[in-house]
Amino acid sequence: MSDQLIDVVISKREDQADAVAVFELTAKDGADLPVFEAGAHIDVHVTPDIVRQYSLSNDPASTDHYRLGILQDPQSRGGSDAIHANFKAGTELQVSAPRNHFPLNLDAERTVLIGGGIGITPMLTMAYTLQAAGKEFELHYCCRTRGSAGFLDELAAQFGDRVHLHFDDAGDDQRFNPEQVLVPAVDGSHMYVCGPSGFMDWVIGTAESVGYAKDNIHFEYFNVDVDTSGVSFEVVAEQSGVSVIVGENQTIVDALAEAGIKVDVSCEQGVCGTCLCDVLEGTPEHNDKFLTEEEREDNDQIVLCCSRAKTDKLVLDI
Ligand code: FES
Repeated sequence: MSDQLIDVVISKREDQADAVAVFELTAKDGADLPVFEAGAHIDVHVTPDIVRQYSLSNDPASTDHYRLGILQDPQSRGGSDAIHANFKAGTELQVSAPRNHFPLNLDAERTVLIGGGIGITPMLTMAYTLQAAGKEFELHYCCRTRGSAGFLDELAAQFGDRVHLHFDDAGDDQRFNPEQVLVPAVDGSHMYVCGPSGFMDWVIGTAESVGYAKDNIHFEYFNVDVDTSGVSFEVVAEQSGVSVIVGENQTIVDALAEAGIKVDVSCEQGVCGTCLCDVLEGTPEHNDKFLTEEEREDNDQIVLCCSRAKTDKLVLDI
């Protein structure tokens, strides 16, 4: 995938629901945009110092625009606040080509899509793709209130009774219960979930407990509380020939920065993989949500913004 940025312009902004703004982006030169698959995201260069990842939410069959649904996060570290304040129709910006860490398996016999809050965005792309392929699926959309839920008209118009709405402030009969939704876990069922991290942990744990195969449980975290503290350790940056001590309340990224080594970061929460680095020696303590279980066990890569070391020293390929 090319790292070249794409110049785009916001062709439309629509404020939907509480704190959700929906943006359509078109290429500044009017050309088609690079194709994407269900589950893909793009990097949005919000300011020269802030890059954020957002899932695409439009039908992947459309190549003339990308659409993003962006929640103004109460815990915003600057990204979503700046977008909500400054992005409007006509704003020019740069984005990356689409990348996909959350691919859809079109061979599944049955697919359950679960979106919590703004986690509905990748589910929309999956629903469009499954529908176009004539596959069996259902989509569960969980929100605090109807007023906080975007895309409701589109969901009803496009996917009809495949969509199940769950609002925390509505009656018990429609409240989300993963044990009901995920049972029975027929062989060949695949489950996809995206939303707040506590919600996702709950859904993933339920899917495991009712017998979904590990490979059939798919998820993408976008916002997690991560404890980056721990005992101090040494990091050797092999390519740079520099050694640093990572303090108890310091990240590897911060310790390297003090020694003049800049690591590219974006989410700084162990979600996006921007700061991924190869490990040449030592054993990482993985605190991220980016690497798969198998990749963690290999211990040959580390996410530098939040992970630490189990050994006294890590040698990194940086
Ligand atoms: S910056 Fe996103 S995983 Fe480290």
